[in-house]
Amino acid sequence: MKFTIACLPGDGIGPEVSESVVRVLNAIAEKFSHQFEMSDYLIGGCAIDATGNPLPEETINACKSADAVFLGAIGGPKWDDPNNKVRPEQGLLKLRSELNVFSNIRPLTVFPTLLDASPLKPELLKNVDFIVVRELTGGIYFGAKHKGKDFATDECRYSVREVERITKVACELAMQRDKRLTSVDKANVLETSRLWRDVVTGYVAENYPEIQLEHQLVDSCAMKLIQEPAHFDVILTENMFGDILSDEASVLAGSMGLLASSSLGDGCGLFEPIHGSAPDIAGQGIANPYASILSAAMMLRWLKLSNEADAVEQAVQQAIADGVLTRDLNSDSQVSTVDATNAVVELI
Ligand code: IPM
Ligand code: MN
Repeated sequence: MKFTIACLPGDGIGPEVSESVVRVLNAIAEKFSHQFEMSDYLIGGCAIDATGNPLPEETINACKSADAVFLGAIGGPKWDDPNNKVRPEQGLLKLRSELNVFSNIRPLTVFPTLLDASPLKPELLKNVDFIVVRELTGGIYFGAKHKGKDFATDECRYSVREVERITKVACELAMQRDKRLTSVDKANVLETSRLWRDVVTGYVAENYPEIQLEHQLVDSCAMKLIQEPAHFDVILTENMFGDILSDEASVLAGSMGLLASSSLGDGCGLFEPIHGSAPDIAGQGIANPYASILSAAMMLRWLKLSNEADAVEQAVQQAIADGVLTRDLNSDSQVSTVDATNAVVELI
């Protein structure tokens, strides 16, 4: 089959990990006789430098007409001045909202040979396998913003419809798993969280009575993620809490460089590693490509190419088991981004 994929390498290590994805998809195309038409488009800081706009119209149009979008990472110190009117992050947020990808799915698995890569005790990491379902196009990220001379505001807003549609996504995932759902909010303080909790409770009771639902406050959830991570199956939460908790969760896996994500809505799918542009190691060829390659596997599964997705995931698992680890996972390692990608491509 033939697919069009828009690649948005972005900034920092983005282009390096994006190159890994292109190579892996080419290997899959060859093995399974597909055609992936991949072209690069600008987003983030490099787009600001080239056009003054963090999300040029050309990129939006290419993403909208593609079958799927891969994004590397955006941002970096060059564009970080808080007084800048134009920022790389605006490009990513606009892309999420233009594509209406309201559900961000971030699976967390602990690879058995990487128990020592996490600062947590290995016995805590046994049976850790959960998914964070993060609402991605609402909440405080997208509310009205104001910066005055003596004060600033960020509005946090959620509608019933926004909460219902993301709850449905989380419930569908829970039904394929252990049927346990943890909804995370700050209902003791925030009105949006009280609405969130009411809507989730009602929606699950009415549509998914088999699901065991619990509510946790975000502060205590942050603690429980470290104290008893195996407790969780599907975590459902709003935009900002999901951003924070998923970075925290990545510590369980041993590195941010392992966590993939998909962002889905009713149309196009956007696939990206959860890590950022890592300017400290950009251009050195030592970034971990596995999060991006695993995001490509999520892309393949979403394109209904499940054997192809399995092939990619198994190749990454095998490469990890074989000890092909970049520096984030083994500080003595000399394995480069290209070495790790070669290992995956060969295994495919
Ligand atoms: C993420 C990132 C983004 C976010 C930034 C780059 C805007 O941290 O995808 O988690 O906060 O959503
Ligand atoms: Mn984040």
